[in-house]
Amino acid sequence: MTQIASIILAAGKGTRMKSNIAKVLHPVCGAPLIHFPLQLSFQLKSKTTVVVVGHEKDAVEQTVRALAGSRSVAFAHQKEQLGTGHAVMTGMAELKDFSGPVLILSGDVPLLTKSTLTRLQKAYAKCGGPVAMTAFTTPAPGTYGRVITEKGKPSAIREFKDCTAEEKRIELVNAGIYLIDAAFIRRAVPKLKTNNAQGEFYLTDLVALAAQKSSVALVTADEKEVCGANDRLDLLNIERTLQMDIHHKLMKSGVTIQSPETVHIDIDCKVGTDTVVGTGAHILQGSKIGSGCTIEPGAIIRNSIIKDGAMVKAYSVLDNAIMDSGATVGPMGRLRPGAHLKQNAHVGNWVELKNVVLGEGSKANHLAYLGDGKIGRGVNIGAGCIFCNYDGFLKHQTIIEDDVFVGSDSQMVAPVTIGKGAYVATGTTVTANVPADALAISRGRQLNKSGLAKRIKSRLKAKKEAQTKAKK
Ligand code: UD1
Ligand code: CA
Repeated sequence: MTQIASIILAAGKGTRMKSNIAKVLHPVCGAPLIHFPLQLSFQLKSKTTVVVVGHEKDAVEQTVRALAGSRSVAFAHQKEQLGTGHAVMTGMAELKDFSGPVLILSGDVPLLTKSTLTRLQKAYAKCGGPVAMTAFTTPAPGTYGRVITEKGKPSAIREFKDCTAEEKRIELVNAGIYLIDAAFIRRAVPKLKTNNAQGEFYLTDLVALAAQKSSVALVTADEKEVCGANDRLDLLNIERTLQMDIHHKLMKSGVTIQSPETVHIDIDCKVGTDTVVGTGAHILQGSKIGSGCTIEPGAIIRNSIIKDGAMVKAYSVLDNAIMDSGATVGPMGRLRPGAHLKQNAHVGNWVELKNVVLGEGSKANHLAYLGDGKIGRGVNIGAGCIFCNYDGFLKHQTIIEDDVFVGSDSQMVAPVTIGKGAYVATGTTVTANVPADALAISRGRQLNKSGLAKRIKSRLKAKKEAQTKAKK
């Protein structure tokens, strides 16, 4: 196939989105809209990928650069958004030496597939150019541009606002994706006029210009694939389609998803076979989940790695965390950035970990805060233990070596190290290092005063009765 160059139109404000953020930066399934055409351009091995930027230019460029990684992208700055025709002409400034077909993609058509573009390339090759376009038929053509045909071939595209009542009834609409010969663009765009309802240079008018001399190739696609994201409702519909697509692919690969309509999985996440994803779970931002894992209802997992056979119990929240195989967390556990549960480590309910390694087979099962430190293997952290990691200015480390037992309600005032095999008695405030195999205990000795409870209670009871009497 002839090599193409691509221009992605992404300068528009996206007025209908009613947002302070550029339209192409709005996400679907965790990826900004601009991610999708960008990937297509890379997949088709475009000689050059030009992104036309304007509204929120810096933010769009920054996102595109991050998405492109090592692949090169050129930016063309459309200072004023004078229409899609003007945007393409602006993009052509970056394709000065290019001859051949230019793929024009909208920044806001995310579900477009490579296979439709391959059909477009074939249709272009067959008709010999200069224009091949995509369209779809819909019973609800809304504000899409209508495709006017003569003898089954496109003769013009009429923008909705310029349509007669009769033209508005046309159900064949323009999807906004084209292959157009570079030389033709250079010749024809300067001929565009703004004598239309929106006072813009419409790219769509190139179709009528091309149709005067040659026949314009038309490729049809499914509405679900080529619909544009112009407002929040479009975004929702697109997200639903893509989300179901992600679910279906995972299910086919052996993942169980309960009540999929309630589950959200971002496009860049991975889930292994025999993993069960519970109702309402969210798997986000590049999370990688192995096989045979259980993700219980309501779990939120962000940019985390969960290895085979691990278990995230209900309503746990993970953010930039790692769970090795066989580890468990929750219900209602919280793993913050840098939390790493080694093999078979257990974290129970209402336990929060941050920047801490919990060693192999170690446990922190109830109500604890473990921040900044390292915990060895076979350690038991009792209920209500706290790593006092912050002195108001700096963070400090707590090191707990292998086989330590930390009794409930103990505080480790960091920096502090508890040596291998040591035993921290319940209710201890550890302020100094504990040597290996030592017992650390810092609470007061217990004293029992016989019969004193009874005497105190009767004294208090009499006091209360006297007060009640005085009030009457
Ligand atoms: C456009 C088509 C319409 C088609 C629809 C399909 C035109 C005139 N109309 O309408 O026929 O049915 O797409 O989705 O082309 N943009 C710029 N600079 C500008 C204007 C727009 O970069 O000056 C970018 C936008 O950011 C967007 C894309 O071009 O990514 C399309 O613009 P948009 O305003 O969404 O066009 P539609 O009204 O949807
Ligand atoms: Ca649009």
